[in-house]
Amino acid sequence: MDAIVLPSGVSVNQRPVDLGPVVLVMVGLPARGKSYTARKVARYFNWLGYRARVFNVGEYRRHNLGAGQSHTFFDPHNVEGARARREMAHAALHDLLQWIGGGGEVAIYDATNSTRARRAWVRQVCQDAGVRVVFLEIACEDEAIIEASIRRTKVTSPDYVGRDPDDAAADFRARIAHYAESYEPVDDPDQSFIRIVDVGRQIVVNRIQGYLPGRLVSFLMNLHLEPRPIYLTRHGESLYNLDARIGGDSPLTEAGRQYAVRLADHLHAELPPAQACTVWTSTLRRTLETASWIGRPSRAWRVLDEIDAGVCDGMTYAQIARTLPVEHAARKADKYRYRYPRGESYEDLIARLEPAIIELERQRHPVVVVAHQAVLRAIYAYFLEHPPETCPFLSIPLHTVIRLVPGAYGCEELRLHLGPTPESSQGAE
Ligand code: SIN
Repeated sequence: MDAIVLPSGVSVNQRPVDLGPVVLVMVGLPARGKSYTARKVARYFNWLGYRARVFNVGEYRRHNLGAGQSHTFFDPHNVEGARARREMAHAALHDLLQWIGGGGEVAIYDATNSTRARRAWVRQVCQDAGVRVVFLEIACEDEAIIEASIRRTKVTSPDYVGRDPDDAAADFRARIAHYAESYEPVDDPDQSFIRIVDVGRQIVVNRIQGYLPGRLVSFLMNLHLEPRPIYLTRHGESLYNLDARIGGDSPLTEAGRQYAVRLADHLHAELPPAQACTVWTSTLRRTLETASWIGRPSRAWRVLDEIDAGVCDGMTYAQIARTLPVEHAARKADKYRYRYPRGESYEDLIARLEPAIIELERQRHPVVVVAHQAVLRAIYAYFLEHPPETCPFLSIPLHTVIRLVPGAYGCEELRLHLGPTPESSQGAE
């Protein structure tokens, strides 16, 4: 069967055309969660296939001047300190713009940028380079959140290696006080900005235009810091798995049903009945059957359906190699971008799964995702920060539950093979 032929000049593209690259300029006092947010935003855009990167001014300081400066270095009256900090800010912005010049699409300038004068400078330099700027202010006056952030991330930072935690916390509070002396919130109605107050209690969006900043707002509106587990599992073994055929809508095998029962038992032991929990499935029979034993509210989502194998649906990989050798070779050459004729590529799949990722970020209680190999590879890649191109090679075996707990510094992962060992582990290879 031939691939779809498009009229000349027409290409299939997953990525909407935007207004060019964007620099996201973080703003906020220390310990407000700027770097945490910056990293999450970079991960999100990288997963969607954009070139995104964080430029952290604190890292330039540590790299060039050494870690371990005391709070006096950050005192605005310390002329030498202010000069050195300005130099680091310039070096980071210079590298950022060079990176954009080389094809970067979303650059995140992670620094306090706490005064109007500093922000006007950043904006001017970016404008001169022809790049849009969006300010992202993280404001927080909740003392409990600030203290938790100092204790969790600052006293263990490279700035305080070997220091007593109470000393380190006291020094960091003094550093915050220096910045607070001259802090000016983002409030210029003519500028493009997003202001997040108290971890999403209030979000102010001003003059936001274009696709990427629009996606950013939707992403930021759903972020929170509450830890909760996300369980990822493929359906139990299906009849198509047994025949090594891809796609289809076949029921579970006996071994698949045994896995579904073991999965339900495992989840009952981990999540007491009083614990709210949602089960998500695809609309395909093998995931619905697998989830039916769990006995929790469940939602069937079409976005979670397996990668669409198009004209190859129902075939084995050996049949594809024999009867469609050109397709087989094209897929081998670029498994991430290869699109089955009248079907999907992994790249297409990621674009389709974006609403599921936003929804997973928003959820505050445990979610069990019962889906398919390619779909779970894409979701797993997002949480574990694997480059999207590596998705087709990530291992998501049958009859194994993967427990993820996203946190401020990465994602905890636990894999449990519940058995029984399936006859075959075929799915989207
Ligand atoms: C730092 O040096 O740690 C941060 C500099 C800044 O953002 O003001």
